[in-house]
Amino acid sequence: MEIRILAAESLGVRSMAVLVRTKDLAIFIDPGAALGPKRYGLPPDEVEWKRLRFLKEKIRKVLKEEAQMAVITHYHYDHYDPEWAPDFRGKKIFLKDPHSNINRNQAKRARELLKRFSSHGILWEVAEGRREFFGETEIVFSAPLSHGPQPRFGAVVSVAVREGKNTFLHTSDVSGPVQKEALHFFYQQEPEIIFLDGPGTYLGPRFGLEAADLARKNLIRLIDDLRPNFLILDHHLLRDLSWHKWAEPIFEMGARRGTKVISGAEFMGKEPLLLEALRRQRYKKTLSKVDTFLIPG
Ligand SMILES: [Fe+2]
Repeated sequence: MEIRILAAESLGVRSMAVLVRTKDLAIFIDPGAALGPKRYGLPPDEVEWKRLRFLKEKIRKVLKEEAQMAVITHYHYDHYDPEWAPDFRGKKIFLKDPHSNINRNQAKRARELLKRFSSHGILWEVAEGRREFFGETEIVFSAPLSHGPQPRFGAVVSVAVREGKNTFLHTSDVSGPVQKEALHFFYQQEPEIIFLDGPGTYLGPRFGLEAADLARKNLIRLIDDLRPNFLILDHHLLRDLSWHKWAEPIFEMGARRGTKVISGAEFMGKEPLLLEALRRQRYKKTLSKVDTFLIPG
């Protein structure tokens, strides 16, 4: 199984875009990327826009040319781009249920996407609770899981891809995990590689300090019980410059249990590039020119 993380916070944009290739098919989970509209009260600068353009082009090309299946785990624009609807033609499509367990804002975006799909004659299926087989590849979708501790953000779908004894788990925006149902699904899948968004610690009390603590406890326990080869932490957690410090006890448990705890960039053999988290420093020009403009491909 090949896992290619194409975009994520550790690669400079908001995203959890990943192509999973087994010997049977290539599955694109969450083909999209976006920027934080306001961070530290500041809009994205040219460094971030440039990075976004570069990565979105790459995502779109891989979606069009390589994926036989596409999954959209929920309707936030860092996970898909409605303008790309025609690029989904000819692929098997699984979508977060656009009608149930969805908040008003996401339901509106879902309607817009479905209208575009139908204008191109593109068919799709509801992902929640499904189990699909393609040759020796099994794809399992979770029931709707809460987008973090606050139900008002709606629900997301986690995806497990299994080939033989190898299972990759994409948790989408569970923002933790803080919910029992999410943990239950993770335990059921027994993944070797987990790509997880982590809690939004950058929001501080707005995320909830207790919820962040609970997420950390859950991640420590998850490593202790499941002993995956990799726990890839990214997305919400990697918007925080001190994520490494926050995750210290998780790293410690990882070292004890043989689990590599790393960011998406590191999983791809690259240096993390937290462009959003470094936005204020770039505005204040406290970063060196090299730090600011060092943008790996
Ligand atoms: Fe997201």
